[in-house]
Amino acid sequence: MAQRPTGVKKTDESARAIRFRQKHLLAIADLDRFEAENLLDRAEKFAPLLDERVKKLDTLRGRTLINLFFENSTRTQSSFELAGKRMGADVVNMSVKSSSVAKGETLIDTAATLNAMRPDLLVVRHGSSGAAELLSRKVDCAVINAGDGKHEHPTQALLDAFTIRSRLGGVEGLIIAICGDVLHSRVARSNVALLTLLGAQVRLIGPPTLMPAGAEKWGAKVFHDMRAGLKDADVVMMLRVQRERMTGGFFPSAREYFWFYGLDEEKLRHAKPGALVMHPGPMNRGVEIDSTVADNASVSLIETQVRMGVAVRMAVLEALAESGANEERS
Ligand code: NCD
Repeated sequence: MAQRPTGVKKTDESARAIRFRQKHLLAIADLDRFEAENLLDRAEKFAPLLDERVKKLDTLRGRTLINLFFENSTRTQSSFELAGKRMGADVVNMSVKSSSVAKGETLIDTAATLNAMRPDLLVVRHGSSGAAELLSRKVDCAVINAGDGKHEHPTQALLDAFTIRSRLGGVEGLIIAICGDVLHSRVARSNVALLTLLGAQVRLIGPPTLMPAGAEKWGAKVFHDMRAGLKDADVVMMLRVQRERMTGGFFPSAREYFWFYGLDEEKLRHAKPGALVMHPGPMNRGVEIDSTVADNASVSLIETQVRMGVAVRMAVLEALAESGANEERS
């Protein structure tokens, strides 16, 4: 069922009216709090549109958005496609299967080809950390990072923060536990950066083998005991076990992983009563999350995250299109 955001923070017209200063959206680490809140405020304007019968605007009419995905994606790619179409842009989807050619070379060749087509916005997902940034130096248009290796996935963090803000009224002061395969997760890196920027207390929970060296320096508290890490948490964000990025044995078996780090009703009881559950998808049911939690509409925000993703991506496209237009004029 369509869920309307409750307790939505009042939009700040003045914040929204101010142009977004970045040319690209490559990493949350590049944003200050004002810029991040500016994007979330813009998303608030687009969220009600998701329930309208006619969802189309003409903000990006005549502009071209290219989706360039070197890695598989269901929700992110379709979310950017819908966001672009709802803003009136022409959207081209290019699904590039990983090639045996050295990644950098493929990427630069592709960038040159695409650049010749003069797109306005380029959304890129690639298996190598830094790929989006590299591409941004080779093309003239705005580049949006839709996930680069283990590095960052900024629009996922923005949609997660927007989902939390829509449901709980804000992010400041909340205890948010991010749990699972932190080592391979760009979602975790972007979320730690954004949620701490917005004033949350962030915790990282996972086995030592799936916790990156130096994670405690990211501004989050690290736990290896899930029940201790969940204590008093307002929000529990689960991460997918990313087998495709694993080269060795990081844990003995899926069964054992679930025993220690899988979120079920019993472990969730250690968080604050009424704590909310999130997952960026796709989920490995029975590995990092149990269906009794994932499908429980009173605690799970998983569907809301997907819905809000479109509004957040519309906001990002609008902000970058404006910033590009201002740049051309200046
Ligand atoms: C995430 C990704 O691709 O990084 N998924 C997504 O964008 N919805 C997380 C994941 O794949 O586990």
